[in-house]
Amino acid sequence: MNVGLKTQILPAGEAAVAAAARSLATGGLVAFPTETVYGLGADATNAKAIARLYQAKGRPSFNPLIAHVRDFEAGMRIARFDAQAIALAKAFWPGPLTLVLPKARDCAVADLATAGLETIAIRVPAHPLAREILRAFGGPVVAPSANLSGHVSPTTASHVQSDLAGRIDLIIDGGAVEVGVESTIVGCFDAPMLLRPGGVPRGEIERVLGRSLAQPPEDADNDTGQPLAPGMLASHYAPRTPVRLNAGGVEAGEVLLAFGSGNVAGVDAATIVMNLSPRGDLAEAAANLFGYLRALDTRGSSAIAVMPVPQDGLGEAINDRLRRAAVGRE
Ligand code: TXA
Ligand code: MG
Repeated sequence: MNVGLKTQILPAGEAAVAAAARSLATGGLVAFPTETVYGLGADATNAKAIARLYQAKGRPSFNPLIAHVRDFEAGMRIARFDAQAIALAKAFWPGPLTLVLPKARDCAVADLATAGLETIAIRVPAHPLAREILRAFGGPVVAPSANLSGHVSPTTASHVQSDLAGRIDLIIDGGAVEVGVESTIVGCFDAPMLLRPGGVPRGEIERVLGRSLAQPPEDADNDTGQPLAPGMLASHYAPRTPVRLNAGGVEAGEVLLAFGSGNVAGVDAATIVMNLSPRGDLAEAAANLFGYLRALDTRGSSAIAVMPVPQDGLGEAINDRLRRAAVGRE
């Protein structure tokens, strides 16, 4: 599963930033850390580079990409912001919030990146390396999570390497990311809608808007229809090992993904136990989630049993990813 590219890996630093900007400018595919997960970047205005990106990830091209920009002003050049969008951008950028907005008339982002939609997803990442790369490159960069399509998102450079070595040009290693789940996506429609729970908890967004976020219709969330957030395919973030949610106990041959200080029956039967946060801290759990899923996935167990995680704050994003991991792959 390798298209024969030589993938260079560079440690964070000035030389890496310059190499990333050069590669992007010549149609290259560059993985770099954001505060949420590692992204796989391509020049958002270069359709050929974007076609390579879809191919490298094995991602369906009807699933649009997020354009990453260096600041709000750069966002204004590619999308139209209403008052609510401006309020959200001012409150949460740079940071783990993506806004889906009407495209600006002279939006330079290639149609292939937006899958022909009239809207575009935009975010300003907070990670210093991501910001330096965007500044050095100078234009918008589309960046999905830097994993094979459908697989668990990468939170370290070595996760990226294990999925994409030989398929992309460059990986910038900036260590483990801080947030650990992808950005929250809000559709700035007449009634702002939570398209994907993520790094900014729903409550913080609702506080800024002064209203509740609408839920996408039930049927938007499947593999077949015309999803509102097309990437919200039911099966996503999936390890190869089956995932069993809300486990009240562990069966022989299973591994356990634990949370908090409580115990579950049969813990001694588990081949291995990894605890997302022994002290029950949801931010710590989010940061550990994808790495632990990847680690448990290598144990050749019959299933990954998962203890319940509370739904408040970042728990909504954690439970969303766990549910998708449990659906399994087609
Ligand atoms: O934290 C993140 O958002 C990471 C980092 C790298 O920035 N990126 C990320 O990208 O998660 P990706 O491609 O894995 O997920 C982007 C999601 C997909 O579900 C896609 O369908 C949705 O955004 N999306 C993109 N453009 C959209 C649009 N115009 N309308 C609705 N959903 C859109
Ligand atoms: Mg992804």
